[in-house]
Amino acid sequence: MGVGCESGCVVVTGGASGIGAATVKRIVAGGGCAVILDVNIAPASGLAQQFPNKVFPYRANLLNEEEVRDVHATVAAELPPIVGLVNCAGVPQVPRPIEEYAVDDWSAVIDSHLKTAYIACRIIGAAMAERGRGAVVNLTSVLAFRSGPVLAYGPAKAGVVNLTESLAVQWASRGLRVNAVAPGWTDTPFLRRGDRHGKRDLQPILDATPVGRLLRPEEIAEVIWFLLSPLSSAVTGVTIPCDGGVIAASGWPPYGGIPRARVPA
Ligand SMILES: NC(=O)c1ccc[n+]([C@@H]2O[C@H](COP(=O)([O-])OP(=O)(O)OC[C@H]3O[C@@H](n4cnc5c(N)ncnc54)[C@H](O)[C@@H]3O)[C@@H](O)[C@H]2O)c1
Repeated sequence: MGVGCESGCVVVTGGASGIGAATVKRIVAGGGCAVILDVNIAPASGLAQQFPNKVFPYRANLLNEEEVRDVHATVAAELPPIVGLVNCAGVPQVPRPIEEYAVDDWSAVIDSHLKTAYIACRIIGAAMAERGRGAVVNLTSVLAFRSGPVLAYGPAKAGVVNLTESLAVQWASRGLRVNAVAPGWTDTPFLRRGDRHGKRDLQPILDATPVGRLLRPEEIAEVIWFLLSPLSSAVTGVTIPCDGGVIAASGWPPYGGIPRARVPA
């Protein structure tokens, strides 16, 4: 598929902020147009003003199947055909031991990542499969592959990896590719909110990240763009880590930690 405006538009759930907003800008920079579905409409409208006739904001709660179905019908009637779907919507989790983490809170976080992606794929992905072309990119996380004290977030993201693989196989013969990106810690409002005290000590994250810095949302958006574009025409059913080396580094702590750049004297 092409991703130019003339050939169709790309839906970005959670496109009002962070990685989603960077993806919207990357799509526009690549000559495409983006449809934002987000509960937070003000920043989405700001992006639409910044990029007239390129970015189209719609308020939608991705947890609500009927709401997504209605918005999808509106988009289908008003805009060029949808040729891409990027699932970024989701909320962070405050780390908690299982004894202190209520089932309802656990379910809410699981749903905000896994159910939202499922609903978007069920409605928007299925419509692309029906038309016989397109690409889906789901946002998962390094925490899909490594344990952590986020007992809903990690399992939800592991579920997104498996959903990605299953849908990729289901839709491969119908011209629709389904892939995922697994970011490491990326500098967005999501990252800065996700702690028990409201203010996050970033040093443990920097210590666990071999490149020694937070990733930029634009760096994640480049990998998403690759997976949307014809450059990845033979790629489906995979999850690409974009993590500054986090997954590769887990064997290093017993040997004294991750090598650091020398600070010049
Ligand atoms: N920031 C990181 O360090 C990081 C790392 C790994 C994975 N991710 C994943 O990347 C994705 C984007 O994260 P981000 O850091 O850009 O977050 P963000 O908080 O900056 O943006 C998330 C957006 O999703 C929207 N949203 C949340 N729930 C929604 C719902 N039910 N319906 C509609 N919109 C909804 C929010 O309003 C917000 O605009 C998430 O899935 C997150 O889990 C982020």
